[in-house]
Amino acid sequence: MKHFNKIGLRLEGERTCLVSFSEAHRDDPAYLNWLRNPDVVRTLYLPDYLAGPVPYEDVKTYCDRMIRSETDLFLALIDKTDDRFVGTLKAGHTNWYAGVSDIGIMVGDKDTWGKGFAQDAIFTLCHYLFQTVGLRKLTSGAMSINPAMIKVFEKLGFQREALLRAQDRTEDGYCDHVHFGCFPDELRTPTPLANGQ
Ligand SMILES: CC(C)(COP(=O)(O)OP(=O)(O)OC[C@H]1O[C@@H](n2cnc3c(N)ncnc32)[C@H](O)[C@@H]1OP(=O)(O)O)[C@@H](O)C(=O)NCCC(=O)NCCS
Repeated sequence: MKHFNKIGLRLEGERTCLVSFSEAHRDDPAYLNWLRNPDVVRTLYLPDYLAGPVPYEDVKTYCDRMIRSETDLFLALIDKTDDRFVGTLKAGHTNWYAGVSDIGIMVGDKDTWGKGFAQDAIFTLCHYLFQTVGLRKLTSGAMSINPAMIKVFEKLGFQREALLRAQDRTEDGYCDHVHFGCFPDELRTPTPLANGQ
């Protein structure tokens, strides 16, 4: 079966670089803190993580499965200015037969939100998946309460393909889920941020 080539993988963006997620990232205390921060996990549709502090063992089980997976490419997101680990990215549930994979991101360090890291990292990953891995289509989704994520996908050329009404649970009710898709000729390079950074 086809699989991702994860050994020594390092993808260079303008502001960020992406490296294979390792046991060292899994055991970095910052990573567990992000997964225990309600501001970070509220838009990740992980209700168990919102119920209380997620146990390290659960995180370890998830990470170890992702590291070994042949259909998931799990990456650590690194700030190029100081080489700091600031989040994670994945191409998940890859269907090698159809050439489709689903993109997800968590910029865990809130101090780095709004600096263009998501745009830069998602573009870098998508470019690699199309040009080097040879995938045909990339998909993703975002809760409608996550305007930053929706804006990033739209700026990069992802198209809205579906709106799943009242699909996701929130702290105080339900919200819609926006489903995106992108083909290679639709992907656009990141443009300057509205805040000028
Ligand atoms: C959503 C998330 C990935 C965005 O990452 P980021 O690095 O801050 O994103 P960027 O800086 O690249 O871009 C954010 C864009 O959204 C805009 N934005 C931010 N907050 C916004 C808001 N409340 N309403 C509208 N736009 C907003 C920014 O201005 C920027 O647009 P610009 O380029 O036109 O200036 C990050 O906040 C995160 O990881 N959140 C927690 C986990 C999560 O939600 N993951 C996604 C699950 S689908």
